[in-house]
Amino acid sequence: MSGQTPMGLAAAAAAAVRPCRRRLLSSASVAASKAAPGTATPLFPRLPHPHHPPCGRRLPFLVSAASQSQTGPDAPPAHVPVPGSTSDPRAAVSGNLPFFDRVLFPDSFPLETPPAKEHEDAAAQADEVVEAAPPVREESETEREAWRLLRRAVVSYCGEPVGTVAAEDPECTETLNYDQVFIRDFVPSALAFLMRGETEIVRNFLLHTLQLQSWEKTVDCYSPGQGLMPASFKIRTVPLDENNEGFEEVLDPDFGEAAIGRVAPVDSGLWWIILLRAYCKITGDSALLERVDVQTGIQLILSLCLSDGFDMFPTLLVTDGSCMIDRRMGIHGHPLEIQALFYSALRCSREMLVVNDGSKNLIRAINNRLSALSFHIREYYWVDMKKINEIYRYKTEEYSHDATNKFNIYPEQIPSWLVDWIPEEGGYLIGNLQPAHMDFRFFSLGNLWAIASSLTTPKQAEGILSLIEEKWDDLVANMPLKICYPAMEDDEWRIITGSDPKNTPWSYHNGGSWPTLLWQFTLACIKMGRPELARRAIAVAEERLSDDKWPEYYDTRSGRFIGKQSRSYQTWTIAGFLTSKMLLENPELASVLTCDEDLELLEGCACCLSKKRTRCSRRAAKSHAG
Ligand code: GLC
Repeated sequence: MSGQTPMGLAAAAAAAVRPCRRRLLSSASVAASKAAPGTATPLFPRLPHPHHPPCGRRLPFLVSAASQSQTGPDAPPAHVPVPGSTSDPRAAVSGNLPFFDRVLFPDSFPLETPPAKEHEDAAAQADEVVEAAPPVREESETEREAWRLLRRAVVSYCGEPVGTVAAEDPECTETLNYDQVFIRDFVPSALAFLMRGETEIVRNFLLHTLQLQSWEKTVDCYSPGQGLMPASFKIRTVPLDENNEGFEEVLDPDFGEAAIGRVAPVDSGLWWIILLRAYCKITGDSALLERVDVQTGIQLILSLCLSDGFDMFPTLLVTDGSCMIDRRMGIHGHPLEIQALFYSALRCSREMLVVNDGSKNLIRAINNRLSALSFHIREYYWVDMKKINEIYRYKTEEYSHDATNKFNIYPEQIPSWLVDWIPEEGGYLIGNLQPAHMDFRFFSLGNLWAIASSLTTPKQAEGILSLIEEKWDDLVANMPLKICYPAMEDDEWRIITGSDPKNTPWSYHNGGSWPTLLWQFTLACIKMGRPELARRAIAVAEERLSDDKWPEYYDTRSGRFIGKQSRSYQTWTIAGFLTSKMLLENPELASVLTCDEDLELLEGCACCLSKKRTRCSRRAAKSHAG
């Protein structure tokens, strides 16, 4: 791999592709196949046979990925070069994947009830067999229902499971794109399956979406970067020729060219990297990680994120709606959710990238960005009582290298709701920071993921959970968790959302409550040693989710009503619930998703090198680590 560019790697991977009936579909290829039936080139490689599932249930412990077998069907392709040596002492632990540890399955997952009623007998027998194993908790009726529904949502491609549809609502005639597999929505499904020991679907998902990444994509004659991952994909059955005598299944991705608002899903690639690490940590499938196409996929995503632009900040600059909130909500610029996922993906990639001449510059860029990003977010996005008081007294129009009010924030921007809302203890990361603009709304996903990835300091992480506890009635109330707080109303809603009838105050993205966020809350609580807080939230959700048919979101200030246009049987609501339960029961598995504080990153802060230009000093960075 040494010395090769990502494109060179892609070409090498393509050369190894064996043609088969599967193929990818883009609007261009549909047009081509219509014009000349049967001539579309099959692009999709046959995947190697799914890896061997881990045998039996073992007690949780950590082993080095290097101790896993390197032979068999999942061994790296022969053309993968032996990785170069590295001076990093940690590299010795697991060969070329310097920081990679595997987490094995715990012993204590609840038993699952069979998926369908007609299989009750067979399942009863199966249960008997499993019941002979060490004692495990019996699943509740709600969990059993959730598993049945999750399995119903599974989508197959050429006979193999590859993902879950966003929603399977039998009463809803207008499917829109809810019959697609969304990358971000699949993450909690993947985690539930992984923790259950059903890893094949996740592996297939990772490899199929990887193929979609390099697909040709255009919006009105413009092509976005190669590393872009689709927001979602669908399996279509198309005729092989004009006589309709044979059919084949094709994967049809949406990169935003059909999405409402035509937004590029910046979060998809970041989620893909985060999920890849979780998969590899749970399965120990280091052979998959070392595959040329997988390494190339990581590099393409990162190259896109790390490419030079006009930015002055280490945060990623994106358009509105490029993440879970996928329509106009005033989050263009540097929204927290993207920054937290970006940081997490960088941390995960650093563990997973094969160290060699071809990747060392990228790894250096990752490290530099990680230091700058964590400093920037910890210093400028954090607000608490003290900081808001500082902003309240800010001088403005400071022209100098060491201005206190670097972004020229006018104190009048502090919203009136915040003055009373900010508690004495704790604080949170604001939603966005731009020149002369701080978005003071509380966004749950960004804050929770900042805890999980250690983008915040440990103290800030504690502060965020303590704020959620203190503001329980605003952020949890009748259904965890508010996507953001507070809602925009009146003129603000009109101007910022463009009068979006779906995002009316306290509905959908505008202050609605999303049960899927429960799993991220649980993860953050486990990481910070506060599982009781997660338990409390899960109990609130469990009370209603099944009766309410697993809605996508809830409306009103306290989350009392099922959302106005909410889908029923929303898969990530179901999977989020299951994942929360399983994580709580097996908290050691949280480590497949979290990252620990890395003090070396603060040492490496690039600003230390240029003392006179900025106040960002090693000392300042360290003072945030407390
Ligand atoms: C909505 C959500 C988005 C999700 C999609 C499918 O558009 O905002 O985050 O991926 O539905 O569930």
